[in-house]
Amino acid sequence: MERILILDFGGQYNQLIARRVRECHVYCEVHPYTMPLEEIRSFSPIGIIFTGGPNSVYEAGSPQVDPAIFELGIPVLGICYGCQLLAQVLGGQVTPAQEDSAREYGKTVTWYDRSCPIFQGLPEKSVSWMSHGDYMARVPAGFRLTAHSAACAHVAIADEVRRFYGVQFHPEVSHTEYGTRMLHNFLYEVCGARGTWSMADYKNTAIGQIREQVGQGRVLLALSGGVDSSVCAALLAEAIGDQLTCVFVDHGLMRLNEGNEVEAAFAKWSMNFVRVDAEERFLTKLADESDPERKRKIIGEEFIRVFEEEAKKIGTVDYLAQGTIYPDVIESGAGAAAVIKSHHNVGGLPDYVDFKEIIEPLRLLFKDEVRQLGRELGLPEYLVSRQPFPGPGLAIRIIGAVTKEKADTLRQADFIFRDEIARAGEARNLNQYFAVLTDTRSVGVMGDGRTYDHTLALRAVTTDDFMTADWARIPYEVLDQVSVRIVNEVKGINRIVYDITSKPPATVEWE
Ligand code: XMP
Repeated sequence: MERILILDFGGQYNQLIARRVRECHVYCEVHPYTMPLEEIRSFSPIGIIFTGGPNSVYEAGSPQVDPAIFELGIPVLGICYGCQLLAQVLGGQVTPAQEDSAREYGKTVTWYDRSCPIFQGLPEKSVSWMSHGDYMARVPAGFRLTAHSAACAHVAIADEVRRFYGVQFHPEVSHTEYGTRMLHNFLYEVCGARGTWSMADYKNTAIGQIREQVGQGRVLLALSGGVDSSVCAALLAEAIGDQLTCVFVDHGLMRLNEGNEVEAAFAKWSMNFVRVDAEERFLTKLADESDPERKRKIIGEEFIRVFEEEAKKIGTVDYLAQGTIYPDVIESGAGAAAVIKSHHNVGGLPDYVDFKEIIEPLRLLFKDEVRQLGRELGLPEYLVSRQPFPGPGLAIRIIGAVTKEKADTLRQADFIFRDEIARAGEARNLNQYFAVLTDTRSVGVMGDGRTYDHTLALRAVTTDDFMTADWARIPYEVLDQVSVRIVNEVKGINRIVYDITSKPPATVEWE
């Protein structure tokens, strides 16, 4: 299989590079820049991309590569820090950019030399996204300059003989016009890719591998109903049928009809599907608890207990399957982030039952590829394209103590919100949207009578990665329609507010 190696120097866009490469139908993996030369050789990439990074190549202790990497005969594309590193290691010189000269941030008009394979087929000038404070003062021998901006003559370099290329800007971000085209050019014109990465092929290969690995063994999967675990279940069901048991723990904090939808989606496979109705158990454990972190912990723990009990009923299990996906796996060059919330999903199951091994058939896929695979496997669109839903479910969308009555109220209101968004055709503009039942009550008037009911908050965001998010500008008419319907149709709610905070400083969920 043709593949690209992406060496990570700690840049914030490294995953984006990988996604762009895969969108060009070429398989790639991201590895830390410390990957030993021997491993690089045995990975046998058709090309290597060096990512950006926060350091300066001339600083002591900055990330480096073994210069022998340039002796492998493999094409290299350096992006930002990666470009400066390539220049320095091959004999050029990188210095801090002087004030007003070559330091550049943001959208920058750039002129390209279109005789360079990377810029083939592009207009003569377009916008690129810069973010660098260093400057390639001297270009290494054998290289020529292939792009410039008004402030900087040294924006891109190329050694076409050895097939080494470098760009100071970030072709992977959408602000760089024609950025994907440049990456495509690197893959196809420089590395000679043919574009063999397709989901149909991946599905067949993965099914073969699962069958080989599992043999006659038994596999257990904790199914949450989220996209990842659902696609994982479908893939395993296709591969090994009734050797698979899926345990779907319904904690009673799912959205309206969600449990039934998940169950229905798997009816076509002959796997063993166990649905555990654990609503009462969870609500009892949660009774009177209003601290968000405690609620999360209680649900996470109880989930494991229920799953454990079910697993014991099933008997000996050889493999535990998990829907881990690639962004969870990538070992980044950057440091670990502070914990804002203890996210819970079914991936964190402990070693409670006897099983030989863990299998993670989605561990090389990005989220959009997981969705594509789900479609390929014939899962219904409502399941495959569903927005993220947190493991603790509605418990963290009910502010304060959770009760069944509140959960039912929120389920109805949330359903109306989603329904109106769908009717208005707004879903494609939003990455996540839901309702939150606050613990604020206020006075209202309905008919001729006074009411003293709950305030419901609507939340809708747009985001690329959920690390940051902007509140969505849903048209007022749609919000109005949602508000009118909820207040009229859902008992216990007499006021609706719309959350207009972005992340940061807020988070997507309220708890
Ligand atoms: P926050 O609220 O942290 O949410 O800005 C970012 C994204 O993560 C989802 N989320 C969770 N997902 N288990 C999950 O699997 C969790 O415990 C959890 N908490 C938040 C949230 O819905 C949003 O998409």
